[in-house]
Amino acid sequence: MSDTDKFDENGEPTRRDFIYIATAATAAVGAGAFAWPLVTQMSAAADTRAAGSIEIDLSKISEGQQLKVLWRGKPVFVRFRTQAEIDAADAVDVASLRDPQTDDDRFVPNTSGVIDKRLLVMVGVCTHFGCIPVGEQGKIDAQGKFGGWYCPCHGSHYDTSGRIRQGPAPLNLPIPEYTYISDTVIKVG
Ligand code: FES
Repeated sequence: MSDTDKFDENGEPTRRDFIYIATAATAAVGAGAFAWPLVTQMSAAADTRAAGSIEIDLSKISEGQQLKVLWRGKPVFVRFRTQAEIDAADAVDVASLRDPQTDDDRFVPNTSGVIDKRLLVMVGVCTHFGCIPVGEQGKIDAQGKFGGWYCPCHGSHYDTSGRIRQGPAPLNLPIPEYTYISDTVIKVG
């Protein structure tokens, strides 16, 4: 069975693969929980917490890793994308998208006025009914058919830019309001 055969023509996982996906999702939650103390430490400034903002030190993330941070009760995903993931996002015909956005549209400039397309920051909430997508890099079942994120609740597939490509979700994964406050630290909210 090829990787793409693990989804039927509607983008739904096969029964056997759904079990695998559910297991992967559980594992992802576990990994997120493990990362939580680090996340808390990174966002510990009391004044920014009070204002509903968090600071994230991007220098803690390496290529191929994804960080999950809790912000206003929602997960924020920060993925350090590989060049292949960036190239895949740029190669998409934007006019063909349900929620047309270029990859560049999904970033804010850093303090030098440059967009760093390696570091993608998104709210990790599916725009269908609010499940948390999985996106374990290197595992096709956890990244969906387009190499980004997959929502196992009803089978929405997001690409490496977090744009909806298949399934019932109407919109791309949202980009939160954020700014760079130094070369390596962003403030979300
Ligand atoms: S909540 Fe994600 S596909 Fe329905």
